[in-house]
Amino acid sequence: MANRDDIIYKLDHVTKVYEGIPRVVALDDISLTINRGDIYGIIGMSGAGKSTLVRTLNRLEEVTEGKVFFEGADLSELKGKELRKARQSAGMIFQGFNLLNQKTVEKNIAVALKIAGVPKEKHEEIIGRMLKIVGLEEKRNAYPSQLSGGQKQRVAIARALSTDPKVILCDEATSALDPKITSEILDLLKKINRELNVTIIMITHEMSVVEAICDRVAVVDGGKLAEEGAVKEIFVNPKSDAARRLVYPEHTGLGLFDGQGRKCVRLVFNGVEAKEPIIAKLASSKGIEVSILSANTKSVGGIGFGQMIIALPEDEEKSRIATEYFKELGVYGEEVEAWQD
Ligand SMILES: Nc1ncnc2c1ncn2[C@@H]1O[C@H](COP(=O)(O)OP(=O)(O)O)[C@@H](O)[C@H]1O
Ligand SMILES: [Mg+2]
Repeated sequence: MANRDDIIYKLDHVTKVYEGIPRVVALDDISLTINRGDIYGIIGMSGAGKSTLVRTLNRLEEVTEGKVFFEGADLSELKGKELRKARQSAGMIFQGFNLLNQKTVEKNIAVALKIAGVPKEKHEEIIGRMLKIVGLEEKRNAYPSQLSGGQKQRVAIARALSTDPKVILCDEATSALDPKITSEILDLLKKINRELNVTIIMITHEMSVVEAICDRVAVVDGGKLAEEGAVKEIFVNPKSDAARRLVYPEHTGLGLFDGQGRKCVRLVFNGVEAKEPIIAKLASSKGIEVSILSANTKSVGGIGFGQMIIALPEDEEKSRIATEYFKELGVYGEEVEAWQD
């Protein structure tokens, strides 16, 4: 694939203002690009502007300033058939599933096919194929009220996928589901991404969702883009306050030294090292003990990541030896604020 074609969405200084009382700047000068084939996360607290942002991607929401490009085309300039085509390229799923309760599973999908102008004689085959992908073939004639939350979301995914979209936009798609079902739905989305090469945009307020399946993530805070990058980089080294709050919600900054005047440093582990033995070995081989102020390890995309905030010994020589030791092992991150659970 040519490089230029790899970008599916580009937001160029996008601002969205809701004029009213009060006047709300829901998106404030957001620029970012989303690559084709990625699972791209957009994360932020409630009210950050995530839903507004995702609605600008299929022009359900007009932007106040700036531009949204889909496959290189300025969405605001598309009309009629072209706009419909661009909209159909993006299927959507929501927290509340948005199924038609008086229609069966099959009819829910058929409605989407009809709206997209797919000839009726093709419906049967497409519906069967979609239900197979989401693992719900035996529920074809069931009504939504007869399905669990996870099954309803599978129907919504089948419906979104039925018109052969290039992108699926997911707005808090797993927020109403319990952890086990969430992980099944995330696995399904991952499978759809990998096997059907559908770009997936995940709007969420949960870092665990981003951690589980996203390649890249944009952190949105108060309508602004706080940080953007590869998920593993943001996990290892969140730079913005908003990202830190999401990665380590339980932590609050204390200042560069801990209460006892010891210097605090961040150790970063990226997949290979086990964290505990390193600290134990420092004690056993050099007789130096460090205090662990906090430790977090996460599995991101199947690779173990972790970081630990430690307080170095008060004794300067011991502190120097410990620092050298960590540097040699390649885990020495930086001097940081101490964090407290
Ligand atoms: N249609 C609307 N009219 C006025 N204000 C809105 C509208 N939709 C959202 N907002 C406001 O815009 C801000 C961002 O909302 P939203 O995009 O829904 O955030 P999120 O999805 O991150 O919770 C909030 O302050 C919200 O109250
Ligand atoms: Mg929202």
